[in-house]
Amino acid sequence: MKILIMNGPNLNLLGVRETAIYGSTSFDDYLQTLKQKYTDIELVYYQSNIEGELINKLQEVGFSFDGIVLNAGAYTHTSIALLDCIKSITTPVVEVHISNVHAREEFRRHSVISPACKGVIAGFGLHSYQLAIEALIAQ
Ligand code: DQA
Repeated sequence: MKILIMNGPNLNLLGVRETAIYGSTSFDDYLQTLKQKYTDIELVYYQSNIEGELINKLQEVGFSFDGIVLNAGAYTHTSIALLDCIKSITTPVVEVHISNVHAREEFRRHSVISPACKGVIAGFGLHSYQLAIEALIAQ
């Protein structure tokens, strides 16, 4: 099984950024934990702060990989281009959020990309990514 874990803008700063909300673990450290847990799965990681780069990567893997775990960061709430891209590819995408976006500011409660995703997992800290992988395995 091949799964892409994709993080959008500002998620390269995990472990440093707003630690009260996002925690103090870097994504690189968490990724090692995931890789040790899922030795049978090829976990590919990609992060970009740039919308078009995220789209290029989704198009690149979105017809061959078995699943995509996507935390689109703030583009979740704004990007019709990402919505169109997720609609265009065949690989199932699970939308994840580290924080419970519904318990935060009003503008975070709406996701533009959810309608094109297989499902949404939010609010479990970095464990949200593992839950998304489990959801893809269970497909
Ligand atoms: C986030 C929530 C978004 O609203 C925010 O813009 C992020 C991170 C999360 O993982 O909780 O960058 O996607």
